[in-house]
Amino acid sequence: MLALFLSLALTALLLALPLMVWRARAWARADAGLGRLQRALIGCAIAAWGLLGVRYLLLAQAGIPLEARQASQLTSPLGWLTWLAALAGLGVFLILSMKKNNPAGAADQPGNERQPMITASEIEYAYLPAGREKEAIQLVEAVFRGQVAPLYSQEGVEEFLKYATPRAVEGRLAAHNFILAASGPQGLVGVAEADEQRGHIVWFFVADGARGLGVGRELMRRAVAELKRRRPDLHRVTVNSSPNAVAVYLALGFIPSDHQREHSGIKFTPMTLLLD
Ligand SMILES: CC(C)(COP(=O)(O)OP(=O)(O)OC[C@H]1O[C@@H](n2cnc3c(N)ncnc32)[C@H](O)[C@@H]1OP(=O)(O)O)[C@@H](O)C(=O)NCCC(=O)NCCS
Repeated sequence: MLALFLSLALTALLLALPLMVWRARAWARADAGLGRLQRALIGCAIAAWGLLGVRYLLLAQAGIPLEARQASQLTSPLGWLTWLAALAGLGVFLILSMKKNNPAGAADQPGNERQPMITASEIEYAYLPAGREKEAIQLVEAVFRGQVAPLYSQEGVEEFLKYATPRAVEGRLAAHNFILAASGPQGLVGVAEADEQRGHIVWFFVADGARGLGVGRELMRRAVAELKRRRPDLHRVTVNSSPNAVAVYLALGFIPSDHQREHSGIKFTPMTLLLD
């Protein structure tokens, strides 16, 4: 009975490990508001699950028979400790998962002004509907202030914000730009603006709570497809990546075409995505 329980638990553990790592990565990237203790517990749980698995394999390699291996998982202090840490961490992880999937609960927390966590399936993609430019600007400004502005000088922040006014956006839309929007149940969660004439990504922003879910990848896929649809002759798409976003653009297939530069306080790395 005990042997069956341990075998099942160990299998569940090994199956749960990649899922936990994947979820924890998404939470970390989404900056989902986890406290230090919660992060530490999740880290402990993942490490403990891994340790249990490795210990089990090492005992197997040392030729310890199955029953003895299972018994030692329960009798040795190390076995106890790892089980305890793994189960406690798993409990915290499950409680957090339930909370993160409960938007009402997340929004209820006092002082929590973040977008509640959403799932990728709740998001719809379309052109930014006319009349929602202000909402897009608010999203861009909020994400910019949180993620990019700390890396810029005051001059750079002011320079960026000059292009984030209703007038500036309307002017760009009336020229050769288009904006794609990702919307969740609570409103906009991401925007990608592209300049059709230059084949250039102008804005690429995803809201707190929605980052790390694939929204950016989908927005970029659609923006590039739309550029290519409008400009079949286009062979490359360019972007000036802010310092924090270079890794994301690399993941999306862009390659740096120059070193980081600075212009009017704005630090950027020119990057290119080759099409075809
Ligand atoms: C850049 C941004 C729009 C990407 O949106 P996102 O929804 O978080 O991106 P996704 O979840 O679709 O991830 C896209 C890819 O980048 C990778 N990625 C995401 N965040 C990453 C990070 N911090 N470091 C390394 N890679 C990362 C993902 O793994 C994914 O690749 P994969 O599909 O191969 O796993 C978003 O992070 C953002 O708004 N950043 C702040 C604003 C900003 O700097 N914008 C760029 C201005 S030039």
